[in-house]
Amino acid sequence: MKHKTIIEPFRIKSVEQITITTEVERKNYLKEAKNNLFLLDADKVIIDLLTDSGTSAMSANQWAGIMRGDESYAGAKSWKRMKETIVSLTSYENVIPTHQGRAAESILYTQLGGKGKVFLSNTHFDTTRANIEYSGATAIDCITEEGKKPSLIHPFKGNMDIEQLEDNILKYGANNIGAVILTVTNNSGGGQPVSMHNAREVRRICDKYDILFILDCCRIAENSYFIWEREEGYEDYDFKEIAQEMFSLADGAVMSAKKDALVNMGGFIALKDKNIADSCINTLIIKEGFVTYGGLSGRDMEAIAIGLEEVFDKDYLNYRIRSTTYLGDKLIELGVPVMRPIGGHAVYIDAKEFYNHIPVEQFPGQSLACDLYVKGGIRGCEIGSVMFGKKDEDGKLIPSPMELVRLAIPRRVYTQSHIDYVIETFGEIIRNKSQSKGMKITYEPEFLRHFTAHFERV
Ligand code: F0G
Repeated sequence: MKHKTIIEPFRIKSVEQITITTEVERKNYLKEAKNNLFLLDADKVIIDLLTDSGTSAMSANQWAGIMRGDESYAGAKSWKRMKETIVSLTSYENVIPTHQGRAAESILYTQLGGKGKVFLSNTHFDTTRANIEYSGATAIDCITEEGKKPSLIHPFKGNMDIEQLEDNILKYGANNIGAVILTVTNNSGGGQPVSMHNAREVRRICDKYDILFILDCCRIAENSYFIWEREEGYEDYDFKEIAQEMFSLADGAVMSAKKDALVNMGGFIALKDKNIADSCINTLIIKEGFVTYGGLSGRDMEAIAIGLEEVFDKDYLNYRIRSTTYLGDKLIELGVPVMRPIGGHAVYIDAKEFYNHIPVEQFPGQSLACDLYVKGGIRGCEIGSVMFGKKDEDGKLIPSPMELVRLAIPRRVYTQSHIDYVIETFGEIIRNKSQSKGMKITYEPEFLRHFTAHFERV
């Protein structure tokens, strides 16, 4: 019998208690947290969809690896194991361990960047952009038109716009391009995948102008699933082979292991070119640690090596992508406007459309994120004008292009009934939708205000 029900392909050996709170309690907690979900204690959250980063449940095998972790300062067995796994996956011989993704970015983009340099990407993730700009260089996004339209259905909305890429190379001069960065999947663009064809085109352009091609590969297993599912010619490949082919097209990669390496902390740089790798090592030693551990414990490296194998398991990836899609499809059935098609790691709700009675100056995304918490104890994340809004000279809001709420799904953590609970909560929110009020900011710091700002309902 071929079953239609996709089950979690694991059983649960160790559980973490969730405290079930009431709506009245949550209203108080939220008030104490000044209506900012980043200021809430995690034990006051029922379903935490703030991020898929560092929130994975590790397997029994990974926990066993934690015990085996070799904590030697130099040349630890766990380092060798992590390195071998990365080399066999990426084919890049020069591997540099770091404590998380942004540390890898900081080290690599400081080497490649600096004043006058330009980086081109499908979309730079915030920390990628921040590290590039911090070096004095400029970061430019070259996303396709399809990638900009939230409700348009297209199989590869994460693709780089090849024409824009080439135009920018010609405009700034090939010598001034620090690197071309392909982020797979494209987190800031809704977790949308990039096709192999597109990666090949990026390779062709980088060859033509002799430019370095770097993959931000933190969700490459999820991207491989979409290639297998949607791109002709890959139906008979396994997911790891697809990832290997994509790595073979680039010159190097940075990875936040907190995503598809299924661990709670970790990252690395992997490069073909030994000279660039050598130039990164000084900063590594000053800022992160010695070359055979970077910012990691031996046990972390052991868990990364195991996670990087487990993530390509066919049943795991099938469950992973199907369960994210399940949430998205059910929300669509309820009439909730979401970014489509559903990406790999998260569902993004278009709060501007959903709460169209709330003007962008009153942050509809923040309002929806708070309502989700009060009604269901669910913690999502506003990705809109609170996070990216700017101000003109008169202090008037220049809104972000989109007002989204991201529900990111931690890996192997929640079961279908948790997700059904989220869907049920949306049903309740829809019934009272028109009564929801906007938000105003009562305190904000100068930088990265979304983490610490205070809000009040208007
Ligand atoms: N690149 C991408 C595409 C990311 O999504 C992230 C992190 C990073 C780099 C930085 O990695 O956190 O290990 O330093 N994304 C998290 C998120 C924070 O919630 O999407 P890090």
